[in-house]
Amino acid sequence: MKVINFGSLNLDYVYQVKTIAQPGETVPCDTMTRFPGGKGANQSVALARAGISVWHAGLLGADGEWMRRLLGDAGIDIRFVQISETWPSGHAIIQVDARGMNSIIVYGGANQHIPHSFIAQVLAEAQEGDWLVLQNEINLTPELIKAGKAAGMKICFNPAPFTADVLDFPLDCVDVFILNEIEAAGLARRPEGTDVDDLAEELQDAFPESMICITLGADGAVCRSPETGLVRQNAFATRVVDTTAAGDTFTGFFLAEIAQHASVQTALELACRAAALAISRPGAIPSIPTRQEVADFTA
Ligand code: RIB
Repeated sequence: MKVINFGSLNLDYVYQVKTIAQPGETVPCDTMTRFPGGKGANQSVALARAGISVWHAGLLGADGEWMRRLLGDAGIDIRFVQISETWPSGHAIIQVDARGMNSIIVYGGANQHIPHSFIAQVLAEAQEGDWLVLQNEINLTPELIKAGKAAGMKICFNPAPFTADVLDFPLDCVDVFILNEIEAAGLARRPEGTDVDDLAEELQDAFPESMICITLGADGAVCRSPETGLVRQNAFATRVVDTTAAGDTFTGFFLAEIAQHASVQTALELACRAAALAISRPGAIPSIPTRQEVADFTA
């Protein structure tokens, strides 16, 4: 069994600010650091550091060659990380405030120009029972969901960032949803702030065969599936430095456990521990812990 993650690759420009700039406001910033990131790449690194065999597929610009090498060095199969001759790499502008909270804008770049022919090329290597991991930062996500299912793969979808067109994707093909509270409310067509147990129940009614996992930041996570009903996990207390990629770290570690048939409770606990470590460190990919670090972690 392997995981193919068809997902975004971004260069993250992280600006350390006292407070995140509000509309009409200009805020000073003394520190800017460039990190490797992108929800797709972050999740691939988390899967690899959790010990899973992962292939990443995606498109960088020529300015992202260094990131391709970095993913290879992280133990990820990069045969399908290609370099666009036309488009620059995607990038993100991330403000991180004194409490470690962030605000992100993402320029899609090459991530939004993946050619249709790339799908068949990558999925030709898929075997029945392999997992396909997708987020919402590349073009062709609905096509990939359908093609992955047709190839006999299991689909894990993290609809981040959430956009209204996600509701038109072939969501019945999704085996595991990983959502934050905003994404869960969007998917359930409910207002933000709706009680999370209600959201989980409504989403389970809408997707009766799927696993619905909802991350809750400082409140941990819940997961609902037809086999287990609702399972809860508290977060692990830690010093908050930068929350960027905490959700991606959670996704990688959670799916690594589920793909190896661990119990939902075990998967939630490991993923919450890994996310706690990620938020105690700066940046996206550099903040993602190894399985050993997660095992050694004490809150
Ligand atoms: O989830 C965090 C990621 O979102 C960042 O690495 C940034 O690139 C954006 O994709």
